[in-house]
Amino acid sequence: MKFHVLTLFPDMIRDGFQTSITGRAVEKGLLSLETVNIRDFSVNKHNRVDDYPYGGGAGMVMQAEPVCRAYESVAARLSAAPRVLYMSPQGKVFDQRMAEELAKEQELVFLCGHYEGIDERVLEEIVTDEVSIGDYVLTGGELPALVIMDAVSRLLDGVLHNEESAEFDSFHDNLLEYPQYSRPEEWRGKKVPAILLSGHHANVERWRREQSLLRTRNRRPDLLETANLTEEDKKFLAKAEDL
Ligand code: ADE
Repeated sequence: MKFHVLTLFPDMIRDGFQTSITGRAVEKGLLSLETVNIRDFSVNKHNRVDDYPYGGGAGMVMQAEPVCRAYESVAARLSAAPRVLYMSPQGKVFDQRMAEELAKEQELVFLCGHYEGIDERVLEEIVTDEVSIGDYVLTGGELPALVIMDAVSRLLDGVLHNEESAEFDSFHDNLLEYPQYSRPEEWRGKKVPAILLSGHHANVERWRREQSLLRTRNRRPDLLETANLTEEDKKFLAKAEDL
């Protein structure tokens, strides 16, 4: 997977991505990251890339031409037209399903805005997906791009080690994750649930599934509506009404 990020703050993207698990994946050659500084494509002698909004109002708008040229500098090197994700609170809200869908692409281009947004005309020309990471407003699209790149990266073959496997965590089957415990067996008077010490693998799996079901019902009942529930899961939830 190749990520190309069009941004006014390339350091923020590189610093955020090239540490930890995603950084290790870049070193292993499983992923690559290119940042393109939109300011390098300014058409203004003062290197500006923003201007006042037509119609008045607060703030500045990023101009169409530098953004378009930054995009074209990437697109010229790609064989097929890539998906171009514009980070914006007006977009479709990102979720695990979208991460799974994006993980199938060979290349993704991220467009990060700043100020009061980007001239609509260039968005109409180049953007394929407008994506929000939630109903709140950030100062720019860099953190949302990093969030999406992280969620997509961990789904790619080889990025996680076996022990970090993406298979069993939150949102697998659309359920929240069960609680985890490690040593010591008793910490400040609090004991690890006995079943986890039993060595009985099937019982442990059943207990974990039940904890996932209870957590999801209690904390995020909206997820249960589209969760993959077995008959046994449904029976458990019906019986566990007061847990
Ligand atoms: N830019 C500013 N806020 C954002 C959000 N919530 N999601 C995506 N891009 C943004």
